[in-house]
Amino acid sequence: ETVDKRIDGKAVAAELRKEIAEKVRQRREKGLPAPGLAVVLVGVDPASQVYVGSKVRACEEVGYLSRSFRLDASTPESELLALIDKLNADPEIHGILVQLPLPKQIDVQSVIERIDPKKDVDGFHPYNLGRLAGKAPTLRPCTPYGCMRLLDAYGIDPMGKNAVVIGASNIVGRPVALELLMARATVTVCHSKTKDLPGELARADIVIAAVGIPNFVKGEWLKPGAVVIDVGINRLETGKLVGDVEFDSAYDRVAAITPVPGGVGPMTIACLLQNTLEACEAIER
Ligand code: GUN
Repeated sequence: ETVDKRIDGKAVAAELRKEIAEKVRQRREKGLPAPGLAVVLVGVDPASQVYVGSKVRACEEVGYLSRSFRLDASTPESELLALIDKLNADPEIHGILVQLPLPKQIDVQSVIERIDPKKDVDGFHPYNLGRLAGKAPTLRPCTPYGCMRLLDAYGIDPMGKNAVVIGASNIVGRPVALELLMARATVTVCHSKTKDLPGELARADIVIAAVGIPNFVKGEWLKPGAVVIDVGINRLETGKLVGDVEFDSAYDRVAAITPVPGGVGPMTIACLLQNTLEACEAIER
């Protein structure tokens, strides 16, 4: 039997980008400005450079205004905060994204909290995270939002399911746990201090892996028929990209699994575009 268990994030993301491009076209027809995204990169982290390049290209492809700012690794915090102030006040800019991680002289939380919550397309500002913990979310973190949209695109409803999140980061683990709760799953968040990860996974109908360790989750730990969303993007010394889940051993056991690359990655970027459109429309109201 040759059923494809791969969840095609590339295709779902392409579909979302197409819808967004069409909405931009309609805006232009009515004489409305294109949504504008500012992308800020501090330093020369190679992975960050790739991500920022993809984000800028995605903006151009759907007809957004995009402005990118590449700052020296030694940039003082005050200079970055001054740039954010300027972008907060710029009417052509609806979304501001400061790529993480930041160099150590810069306090991440100060930067996140300086961004106008209405322009916080990463959804990292405490206002937006607080909203996610309530009943009416505003801007939602892109990767968790992308995971949820992928599940939805494949008709997988988390309601009443056991969901296990591996990793408790501010960027993915914690907010995706809130997303799953909002979707009425029973949610367990595992992390480096968790005593018995295989024991937790044995009951998991949905697994979200966001640890950043290549091939960390073994297929034999998974419940047969589980759905696996692999958020990891890890580059091996050979240059090969792999996820946090050992794909081949997992594939044999699961009902569905996202590949790396081509799973969550493209969804993160499509959801950034979606957030920028939502920010633009909300600012106009
Ligand atoms: N670094 C890793 N993931 C992200 C993300 O979603 N947004 C930003 N700004 N930086 C990141």
